[in-house]
Amino acid sequence: MGDRLPMKASILVLPGDGIGPEVAAEGVRVLRAVAERWGHEFEFEDALLGGCAIDATGSPFPDETLEAAQATDAVLLGAVGGPKWDDPEAMVRPEQGLLGIRKALGLFANLRPVVLHPRLISASPLRADLLEGVDLLVVRELTGGIYFGEKRRETIEGVEQATDVCTYSVVEIERVVRAAASLARGRRGKLTSVDKANVLETSRLWRRVTDRIMRDEFPDVQLETILVDACAMHLLRRPADFDVIVTENMFGDILTDEASMLAGSMGLLPSASLGSPVKGRKTRPGLYEPIHGSAPDIEGQGVANPLATILSAALLLRHSLGLEVEAAAVEAAVSDVLDSGVRTRDVAGPGEPWEGTATVGEAVAAAVTEGRPMSRATPTPSAHA
Ligand code: IPM
Ligand code: MG
Repeated sequence: MGDRLPMKASILVLPGDGIGPEVAAEGVRVLRAVAERWGHEFEFEDALLGGCAIDATGSPFPDETLEAAQATDAVLLGAVGGPKWDDPEAMVRPEQGLLGIRKALGLFANLRPVVLHPRLISASPLRADLLEGVDLLVVRELTGGIYFGEKRRETIEGVEQATDVCTYSVVEIERVVRAAASLARGRRGKLTSVDKANVLETSRLWRRVTDRIMRDEFPDVQLETILVDACAMHLLRRPADFDVIVTENMFGDILTDEASMLAGSMGLLPSASLGSPVKGRKTRPGLYEPIHGSAPDIEGQGVANPLATILSAALLLRHSLGLEVEAAAVEAAVSDVLDSGVRTRDVAGPGEPWEGTATVGEAVAAAVTEGRPMSRATPTPSAHA
């Protein structure tokens, strides 16, 4: 560890809307603490995405943001969206910014780890005995499927109808299954592929390609294949059985909201969206964001939980910058802060005291700066994906 070189990296910050700027600031605070402790040089730049970008430029994903995102080593995002831009008939919507940047950067693998902090088990609506040992990672395909297929409205014989086309190519399936299976190999060695092959043609292709990739390239990884409706049920019935789950874009969207409830609060769950490693580049393109969204109801109050964003910053260190020691140190710091009893409002028990966004961010940054005593310096067994 002593002979690792300090690293220079650029990080693009997209604070976005709602509580996005509040939580993004805490992610940056913790990344600065990491840079300081290990002697890295991180350069931060801000750009607009989502509703704030619509207000300033008319576009949810301005060209300037695209150019900055293409030039940077990694992107940290707060959240986008809010009631101000919520008219479903509007032509321009904040969410288009998010979908646009995922597609433009080729971020096809969306990692959503769900790990339970033992002290927060009571925050989950599920019974504690079902939750023991829950440590799963959903790998959601992010740039294909029904999200990106042709969309159409037409009126046929006086009746209006709408169409969303769902398409998957073999290449799109192969790359996300490989990414998920590689991650399973580094964990408990089990991959669950989720589809709807009893109904959908895309799912039948998904299943065939997955079977082949797993047989030919990952014979050491155990493959389980289940239908998406059954998966929704098993996530509640036997959540601890899952290791890595791989699935298509929309199933992944739905199942990850469900899975987040295992952990009690969405305020704790990070995500990473990864592209293919680029030859000759030391860093891997990636966008990192909390999964909780812009929470306009608590915007500007300083009560949002910054831990999902801070844990997303840890994933950024791990997956885009290759800084595993630093990533594990941030995760350990979050764990220690929770152990010490510091809580934001969303995870505080009834009558328990709670702290604001910045106080919790400062506590994690301080824990990163101080580091754990050597005997505890190993990453926790439940280290986030
Ligand atoms: C998510 C969100 C987005 C999605 C929305 C905001 C477009 O729900 O990241 O899960 O559906 O992908
Ligand atoms: Mg979603």
